[in-house]
Amino acid sequence: MEKLLILTGAGISAESGLGTFRDRDGIWSRYDLNAVATPEGFAHNPLLVHEFYDARRAASRAAQPNAAHHALARLEREFPGEVLIVTQNVDDLHERGGSRRVLHMHGSLEGALCAECGHRWPAPAVMLASVPCPVCSASRIRPDIVWFGEYPYHMEEIWQALRQADVFVAIGTSGTVYPAAAFAQDAARAGAWCLELNAEASATAPDFDALRLGPATRLVPDWVNEVLTHGTAGKQPG
Ligand code: OAD
Repeated sequence: MEKLLILTGAGISAESGLGTFRDRDGIWSRYDLNAVATPEGFAHNPLLVHEFYDARRAASRAAQPNAAHHALARLEREFPGEVLIVTQNVDDLHERGGSRRVLHMHGSLEGALCAECGHRWPAPAVMLASVPCPVCSASRIRPDIVWFGEYPYHMEEIWQALRQADVFVAIGTSGTVYPAAAFAQDAARAGAWCLELNAEASATAPDFDALRLGPATRLVPDWVNEVLTHGTAGKQPG
């Protein structure tokens, strides 16, 4: 049974209206990454960090899954093998598009995490630093997001999936943030055929066997149609 491992990045949600990070006018051109996406930034100014993620949560909740998210959900439903999505995205558009097997390696806007005791609960629309944890009562609420300098979630499961994948597909990611940026190399070393679908070639494009350029809402449904027509995702023309 063929195993497909799909890595997604901000580019798959771009046409749903959620900004990417490193494109022109991207999130990191408007915000200081160190101030809003590191434990040190949170310790220095929690209010700023909460405002940043509250705004992104509101944008995510107002957005709708696009044709690329829906196509991947269709693939999971109809492909006669295994489909696993590993996403760097913290929105929930894969799930709202119908995907079931999704690992959020950088966490989720929909989660609240107690920085004191590690308890997790659903995120409110607005996170107030004064809100006590329902378990330990400490007032150290933070978004359940993996910041720079922190260890991504689900890595054991992801390494195992990389070792077992027959086909690895990266969609809408710039290939600049590790460990995700090394996944194509890891999967290829374990024998997977690797395909990149992106608006422009990523920093890691040489690690892939094939590259298709264009908007995710066109590339992904086209690729899914091909896979479901042929019954296999392996070694298709680039
Ligand atoms: P980036 O902003 O670095 O890259 C987005 C990629 O999507 C680029 O390669 C674009 O060319 C591509 N792209 C843009 N619009 C597209 C479209 N309509 N269709 C297809 N591709 C499109 O975002 P990521 O690679 O996801 O981490 O960034 C990785 C991590 O860096 C994020 O998870 C986040 C960020 O800092 C943390 O915050 C920890």
